[in-house]
Amino acid sequence: MIDDRVSKIIKPAVLAAKAYHVPDSSGLIKLDAMENPYSWPEEIKIEWSQQLQQAELNRYPDASLSELRSKLTQALNLPEKTAMMFGNGSDELIQIILMALNKTSNVVMAPEPSFVMYRLLSSMMELDFVGVPLNEDFSLNLPAMLESIAKTRPAVIFIAWPNNPTGNAFEQDSLEEIINAAPGLVVIDEAYHAFAQKSMMSCLHKYPNVLLMRTLSKLGLAGLRLGMLFGASEWISELDKLRLPYNIGSLNQLSANFIVQNISLLEQQAERIRDDREKLYDRLSNIAGVEAWKSEANFILFRVSNPGADKVHKELIKQNILIKNLQGAHPLLENCLRVTVGTPEENELFLSTLNSILLSS
Ligand SMILES: Cc1ncc(COP(=O)(O)O)c(C=O)c1O
Repeated sequence: MIDDRVSKIIKPAVLAAKAYHVPDSSGLIKLDAMENPYSWPEEIKIEWSQQLQQAELNRYPDASLSELRSKLTQALNLPEKTAMMFGNGSDELIQIILMALNKTSNVVMAPEPSFVMYRLLSSMMELDFVGVPLNEDFSLNLPAMLESIAKTRPAVIFIAWPNNPTGNAFEQDSLEEIINAAPGLVVIDEAYHAFAQKSMMSCLHKYPNVLLMRTLSKLGLAGLRLGMLFGASEWISELDKLRLPYNIGSLNQLSANFIVQNISLLEQQAERIRDDREKLYDRLSNIAGVEAWKSEANFILFRVSNPGADKVHKELIKQNILIKNLQGAHPLLENCLRVTVGTPEENELFLSTLNSILLSS
């Protein structure tokens, strides 16, 4: 029997929400979640595991993450006086930003389609989410954004740059117009920075209402869960009050410190992925019945017409390949799928399998 206290106690927005679905990927070639397909050379793994032995797991972790803070300031060449905070993935940082909003300023905006967590977390927190549709070619509809900003006065605007799932990075001038028009915060989410090789970091200097978010997930440490938020200390010190004091465990801190010192390894992997992305894009666009979009991230969005995305997705799984099906996610994503750039062998297998599915339909 269903306990009716559940529906009385849990808020309607949570009851109505669909849980973020993570598909079972065991035994499959995993090209659905923008992970880096490469691991580390054996000697680096040994060095890393030696570092981990320093962890004092009987103690709470360093709540201020002081070592990581100073290592990142150097490694990322952060503008002077930039404050930073860390999240258990950037998902947690998005949640913290939304949790901080004043009850009277509860509109959250993002162009759509974009990263689903902006909408999902906003609605679970009973905030008003305004999604402004992109143009059909997935470029930013600047007039619509500006009109919507003037009308709804959003407290926060999230911009994924490059955007997920479309892979493009919106025009920088348009983003600055949005920042100028915004009555509140603009969060530039640079999750795919390593693959775009450009940043809006300089906006932190120029505009007091900008925060910049990054993650180590796409660069090669999805299992670590480390998101970073940068900006003026006026904002960061308020948001940091909502962060649970020990949200980043000791093993994660040690691992992050270690990898920041070896960041060139991940940067070389990102370079390989960028090269393979271009090859994958060329090959995909040449398959009859496929429309692919150029990407500045580590994935490619593409559309299939016959058979539709649902069928292609299912057939790929039957042949042990998991990609992301975006059918139904947004009207602009009709029959669209998203494939993460894998190793050259994985990409090759994906292309030949897709080709044979399309040929046999
Ligand atoms: C634009 C964007 N931001 C943030 C995230 C979440 O990253 P993390 O693994 O740091 O929570 C994703 C993940 O797909 C993303 O696409």
